[in-house]
Amino acid sequence: LPHLSSLLPPGREPPRMSPVVEPLSWMLGTWLSEPPGAGTFPTLQPFRYLEEAHISHVGQPMLNFSFSAFHPDTHKPMHRECGFIRLEPDTNKVAFVSAQNTGIVEVEEGEVNGQELCIASHSIARISFAKEPHVEQITRKFRLNSEGKLEQTVSMATTTQPMTQHLHVTYKKV
Ligand code: HEM
Repeated sequence: LPHLSSLLPPGREPPRMSPVVEPLSWMLGTWLSEPPGAGTFPTLQPFRYLEEAHISHVGQPMLNFSFSAFHPDTHKPMHRECGFIRLEPDTNKVAFVSAQNTGIVEVEEGEVNGQELCIASHSIARISFAKEPHVEQITRKFRLNSEGKLEQTVSMATTTQPMTQHLHVTYKKV
């Protein structure tokens, strides 16, 4: 049997983009953190990380994404997540569905306005043996800045801390 992905037409860019995802087309591409991302949280020492983001489509009315973080010096794999970004047709409503290697699965919802996407968690599930503290809320903002770079900012509230920024990263298209 061939790999099923070979049923997609060859080439980097998949077929015709669904008009439904056009409002998020500025997110499409392979992106690499530059400079390294910055991690913060009241309970943590500030840290840096590298991250690769792949945001693509296969002609369906949704985007596919993966974010893979690495240690800036050792390049050891760190946080990873992948999922889908859906739009409600004919509105600016967006749903973001993500599975993370840390054992959480989350749904965020929000709006796209121009080249800015703001979303907030609507449900978060975690594995039964997840370590404390647990994440209780997540908000994210993605935007394409004036230099054509993608930015992601993630804030979270945990069982011990109120909503505070955890991540900020600027990505350059590769
Ligand atoms: C720690 C959540 C993404 C790196 C934490 C903690 C939580 C958390 C709950 C524990 C905080 C505490 O102890 O008070 C999340 C969520 C993410 C996310 C919900 C995505 C939505 C990332 C990414 C990186 C990262 C992309 C990049 C490497 C770290 C590090 C720590 C940490 C280094 C401290 C050490 C550790 O607990 O592993 N994160 N995180 N996180 N996070 Fe994240």
